Amino acid sequence: MSGPQSAIDIPALYAGRRARLAQLMQRGVAVVPTAPEQARNRDSHYPFRYDSYFYHLTGFPEPEAVLVQVAGDHPKSLLFCRERDPEREVWDGFRFGPEQARVRFGFDECHSSAELDALMPQLLADQPQLYCHLGGDDAWNRRVVGWIAAVRAQARSGVTAPAAIHDVRALLDEMRLVKDAHEQATMRRAAQISTDAHRRAMRATKPGRAEYEIEAELLHEFRRRGAQAPAYTPIVAGGANACVLHYVQNDAVLKAGDLLLIDAGCEVDGYAADLTRTFPVSGKFSPEQRDVYQMVLAAQAAALAMVRSGAPWNAPHDAAVRVVAQGLLDFRLCQGSVEQVIEAGDYKKFFMHRTGHWLGLDVHDAGDYKRDGQWREFKPGMVLTVEPGCYIRAGAGIPERFANIGIRIEDDVLVTASGHEVLTQAAPKTVDDIEALMRG
Ligand code: GLY
Ligand code: MN
Ligand code: MN
Repeated sequence: MSGPQSAIDIPALYAGRRARLAQLMQRGVAVVPTAPEQARNRDSHYPFRYDSYFYHLTGFPEPEAVLVQVAGDHPKSLLFCRERDPEREVWDGFRFGPEQARVRFGFDECHSSAELDALMPQLLADQPQLYCHLGGDDAWNRRVVGWIAAVRAQARSGVTAPAAIHDVRALLDEMRLVKDAHEQATMRRAAQISTDAHRRAMRATKPGRAEYEIEAELLHEFRRRGAQAPAYTPIVAGGANACVLHYVQNDAVLKAGDLLLIDAGCEVDGYAADLTRTFPVSGKFSPEQRDVYQMVLAAQAAALAMVRSGAPWNAPHDAAVRVVAQGLLDFRLCQGSVEQVIEAGDYKKFFMHRTGHWLGLDVHDAGDYKRDGQWREFKPGMVLTVEPGCYIRAGAGIPERFANIGIRIEDDVLVTASGHEVLTQAAPKTVDDIEALMRG
């Protein structure tokens, strides 16, 4: 890793997060496994992606690994991971093995994954509570229940089993919600690569090209710059396809006069960017496209203005909805007053999703949106998307000139002490900037 991040003490960073978890638990043991490997077909697997909770606490990238965190007066962090295996490493590549993993990632102890079932009953003996991932996969649940049964089986020798089981994610969700300096730097990098990929895609777009050719430009820029993967399947949606919210076929040919909606972001060291731009295939907006686009851009500006420390989560959405409702009245796509359009939810026919979500290791990241029934307030270090849209499907009562216009404008926003920072600012979004880039 290069640049300012190279100065970061990686073992201390992750050990610090585990110490924080132990502090929040107060007593007991937490067990956090990484994700299972997934077969794609016969002997082929999907590229491995670690579990986000596990990774947040360990930084450890290999499959078949489990973190065990002991809290209390003598906290300790244990990693169970694959042993070194010269023969397997010929086929699958390097493994850290327990000894190197301990030093590199700052654990107190590391063991082979093969020892987990034997050691867990000892680690859980006389512990008051177990924090684990409840409701996960069945095989994992059975394993956890098996350890508890094994501790209970020793009851006559005076050992007690944990009396309470909690979902460890409730603690980790809060930890993940506020991003530290290392996370913010990583997310800036993911945002920067993603904005450059969108610029590249805009420059490559012209009538007659297929959506997948533009997708290839995005993927090329992501990988060329060292992003490990797209953070989610890119949406490259020309014309009416933009009105299908999760369109991922990306196989249509782009037509002059249509808009192209691209929702694509990369993942860097686990952290996602999530970025949408909408622009004309032939480089110039039609009057109606321009009007709807300016309305969505105004909705986004109104939403962004609400992102600051202390403001409630829903403020950006409410602000965006108000602008969209007024726009729909102006275009005569809704009737009545702004209040009526909002109250009755008539705007949802054209703007049916929310204005954003938390962003981080997961694209729709961890963290509650409400606390005790109230929208929670923004705090410095939180990262969210701001992404209003307007999707006008052809149909009864829709004037031809508006039919099949689908627009979303999405940015990634870091809450700061003084307001916010738009991490994806470098992707053009005013009409003039877009048209200028496409002319160039
Ligand atoms: N790309 C997924 C989303 O915008 O939420
Ligand atoms: Mn999003
Ligand atoms: Mn998106």
